[in-house]
Amino acid sequence: MTQRVAIIGAGPSGLAQLRAFQSAQAKGADIPELVCFEKQSDWGGLWNYTWRTGMDENGEPVHCSMYRYLWSNGPKECLEFADYTFEEHFGRPIASYPPREVLWDYIKGRVEKAGVRKHIRFNCPVRNVTYDEASGLFEVTYHDHNTDTVSSETFDYVVCASGHFSTPNVPEYPGFKTFGGRILHAHDFRDALEFKGKDVLVVGASYSAEDIGSQCYKYGAKSITSCYRTTPMDYKWPENWEEKPALTHVTTDTAYFKDGTSKHIDAIILCTGYLHHFPFLDESLRLKTKNRLWAMNLYKGVAWEPNPKLFYLGMQDQWYTFNMFDAQAWYVRDIILGRIELPDLATMRADSQKWRDEELKTETAKDMYEYQGAYIQELIDATDYPSFDIAAVNETFLEWKHHKKEDIMTFRDHSYPSLMTGTPSPKHHTPWLEAMDDSMEAYLSDKPEAAQKAG
Ligand SMILES: Cc1cc2nc3c(=O)[nH]c(=O)nc-3n(C[C@H](O)[C@H](O)[C@H](O)COP(=O)(O)OP(=O)(O)OC[C@H]3O[C@@H](n4cnc5c(N)ncnc54)[C@H](O)[C@@H]3O)c2cc1C
Ligand SMILES: NC(=O)c1ccc[n+]([C@@H]2O[C@H](COP(=O)([O-])OP(=O)(O)OC[C@H]3O[C@@H](n4cnc5c(N)ncnc54)[C@H](OP(=O)(O)O)[C@@H]3O)[C@@H](O)[C@H]2O)c1
Repeated sequence: MTQRVAIIGAGPSGLAQLRAFQSAQAKGADIPELVCFEKQSDWGGLWNYTWRTGMDENGEPVHCSMYRYLWSNGPKECLEFADYTFEEHFGRPIASYPPREVLWDYIKGRVEKAGVRKHIRFNCPVRNVTYDEASGLFEVTYHDHNTDTVSSETFDYVVCASGHFSTPNVPEYPGFKTFGGRILHAHDFRDALEFKGKDVLVVGASYSAEDIGSQCYKYGAKSITSCYRTTPMDYKWPENWEEKPALTHVTTDTAYFKDGTSKHIDAIILCTGYLHHFPFLDESLRLKTKNRLWAMNLYKGVAWEPNPKLFYLGMQDQWYTFNMFDAQAWYVRDIILGRIELPDLATMRADSQKWRDEELKTETAKDMYEYQGAYIQELIDATDYPSFDIAAVNETFLEWKHHKKEDIMTFRDHSYPSLMTGTPSPKHHTPWLEAMDDSMEAYLSDKPEAAQKAG
């Protein structure tokens, strides 16, 4: 009997899994039947932008945490697929920090070429997954919104690729109940123009805080105040951006900080991260972790140790993204195809513990991306995923970090050579701070934005 694999989610991770199997099939392998359940009406995961917040058209929690004018926050050279380059997709080299729509197009290009859309059931959120010891099968229950029916099917393997930057972590601070302006989480942030002319408070000190604050600055907020709980971001901020220590409380229009200072504010954006949230998985199958580089109970970062017929993709904190999901998906594919044999539970646990011990030794950003790079190297060495120069990707991360330190408002104006083809990327036609139109058309144009507008 043909084995069946359920893949939950058609974001970059789930799509990597489909592409991994298709690539083996193209080389002559027999592959299992693949069913990918996707809650949204289209593929691409977080990169599939919607204006909606709260509930979607089917009454499901909106998955998208991206917003208008979002550009890649790292060089695209660090995430390039080893089996499908930017040059192949766009027919020429493009600049290094593309906006969301351009990256979405790139993600789609590879899977369109692979012809894997036929495996995906759209508008089908998975509601429940259980494992039956007697039959050795998973039962997957899903809601097909196309027909408004709830059904169950059995599978030999389940790959959970549902992402972990969608369910917001929403703390409450004293005074929130009576604050006079809008309080929202980054997950619900959509358009910086909403905050034009306003005094904005950004809570948090990581990528969302940095980028949403920068968006608000770029699109005309009156002032930005960001505040950190543990460590400041410590960039050279523009004049109207001040970084404060932890928020203590707010009144109707003022925020108070741990150092005793205060600031008038009109709106509060909680850039306080996300929760790993799998309400559809049985307790015995559910990964519980914070956003970190090594989640426990996952052998090689992917196989659920208590029952390694269940896999998770992309559950780590992410320096590397698309090519890490690929490395993981190829590895999972080869376990399912019987090309990689799993050791016994004690050996798997010892291996994970070794990675956790190493993770705990990482201190600097460089330690962290090198750690993740070493992990990816181990996975790609075990499969036929095209090898790529991870040391060179790490070097590019280092340059990126330097460029951010130099100037947080201009780091996206730099470009780097492709680490897959060696081709240098061109400089973008318009500095990021002046590029207000984030459409693919504007980005790929050969004219600066001002000239495009002038016609
Ligand atoms: C605001 C923001 C900006 C980012 N910017 C960048 C960037 O510039 N560069 C970069 O490399 N990375 C960026 N990332 C990181 C991002 O996590 C990855 O790029 C990538 O999207 C992760 O892919 P994924 O497939 O693991 O998860 P997701 O993209 O989250 O996709 C998961 C998919 O699973 C589906 N799903 C969820 N639950 C169910 C269910 N129960 N049933 C069926 N389907 C389900 C969702 O609808 C979704 O399509 C950003 C993340 C955020 C939040
Ligand atoms: N393309 C882009 O431009 C872009 C934009 C935004 C986000 N992203 C991506 O999105 C992902 C998530 O980034 P993220 O910044 O949302 O999450 P994150 O990296 O997990 O950071 C969460 C932040 O919230 C803070 N925090 C958590 N709870 C808090 C509380 N109760 N009070 C105050 N602060 C609190 C944390 O502070 P502590 O350090 O104290 O824990 C940390 O600074 C990343 O992969 C990132 O690359 C990309």
